[in-house]
Amino acid sequence: MKIQSIKGMYDLLPQETKNWKQIESILHKFFTIHGYGEIRTPNVEQTKLFKRIIGDETDIVTKEMYSWDDRNGDNISLRPELTAPTVRAFIEHNLSKLNKNTKLYYIGSAFRRERPQKGRQRQFCQFGVEAIGSEFPEQDVEIISMAYNIYEMLGIENLELVINSVGSDESKLKYSNELKKYLSKYSNDLSDISKKRYENNPLRILDTKDKKEKEIIINAPNILDFLTKDEIEHFNQVKRYLDKLGIPYSVDKNLVRGLDYYTMTTFEIRTDTIGSQDALCGGGRYNNLVEKLGGKSIPAIGFAAGMERLVMAISGKEETEDKVDIFILSIGDLAIMNALKICDTLRSRLGVNVRMDLSRSSFKSQMRQANKLKADYVVILGEDEISKNIGIIKTMSSGEQTEVPLDTIHKNFDIANNE
Ligand code: HAM
Repeated sequence: MKIQSIKGMYDLLPQETKNWKQIESILHKFFTIHGYGEIRTPNVEQTKLFKRIIGDETDIVTKEMYSWDDRNGDNISLRPELTAPTVRAFIEHNLSKLNKNTKLYYIGSAFRRERPQKGRQRQFCQFGVEAIGSEFPEQDVEIISMAYNIYEMLGIENLELVINSVGSDESKLKYSNELKKYLSKYSNDLSDISKKRYENNPLRILDTKDKKEKEIIINAPNILDFLTKDEIEHFNQVKRYLDKLGIPYSVDKNLVRGLDYYTMTTFEIRTDTIGSQDALCGGGRYNNLVEKLGGKSIPAIGFAAGMERLVMAISGKEETEDKVDIFILSIGDLAIMNALKICDTLRSRLGVNVRMDLSRSSFKSQMRQANKLKADYVVILGEDEISKNIGIIKTMSSGEQTEVPLDTIHKNFDIANNE
């Protein structure tokens, strides 16, 4: 019986990894020029890290984590997101000692046992940033604009930036009590999930996809009315800065997001070009999280984005094609031996992208391969050439052919002249 990959977990084949690598290298550069340093944390952490941070009653913790008892009795989990591990590492390595403002980014796998569908996997890749140290709105706007600019830079269309503020934990609690009062009038109309959320985490009901509940929510109290003057001023300042940067947004008072750690600003970027799972990225402030994990009281904000969703949004925009500098065409044992040697020299000494046929194909078929790979030059090593100790270099753009001594072939390429 054939063994297949696990449901919701996919292989990335060379055609895809090529695009991924390109995007990854753009992201590395983008984050680096913004002053963010890369952090790589393990895929597995103590389960209590996520329980404490993401929230005991969130979907992620109650039903989506891959958790198990380790042989030593510890309960450990595959990370469902990278913010909690990043903050854990920040505290563990005392990174605040090095800088007042710690700016970290990551690109790595995350695991959630959700129902797989387009844009939703059980293993997926998240890239994101966490800025730990500044409480000010300019930091919020740096993070939001970075997220927005990545998608703009990559040509993703119909971007929709949605922002909100959920205030401090105290404001959230006050609001939560009011919301419960309001929802108690509709207790018979709520779904089973929402009834449970009503008890444990009523804010999450604002996120409902249920049509009937959506109607109930329309007249629910507005979270922004429960923010303190300072919290409202922070939010207004974020909006003013976004206006100044010319980044369009809308405010959605129901954007509370699915993780419990948020305080103050929350945001999401969506596009209608990738199907129903339309959230390209999400993030927000989490001013209490460092302290909750045993660190000092240090404010922070970040975002994370799904790589698969980004790739999906890009696909079809820029077809990257296979292209080589040189193709070496070889017929016969001696030619093959020489071709191997030339390839080796060009690749290892000069870093040239060179290919040769490894299946002893006919001359015609090798020429077809060279054309398909859009080789700039073809080196022809036929039996005649080898017997004369030469090779023929054909410049594909002009058709011009030059005979050159076999042992100096690698020195004859423009691209190789920087030897
Ligand atoms: P999140 O909204 O749970 O936030 O996930 C962020 C992004 O990861 C989503 O917008 C989506 O693009 C992608 N994503 C999430 N789940 C899946 C899935 N099952 N399959 C494919 N893509 C998925 C967080 O994870 C927070 N840690 C974000 C954050 C960072 N907040 C502050 N800092």
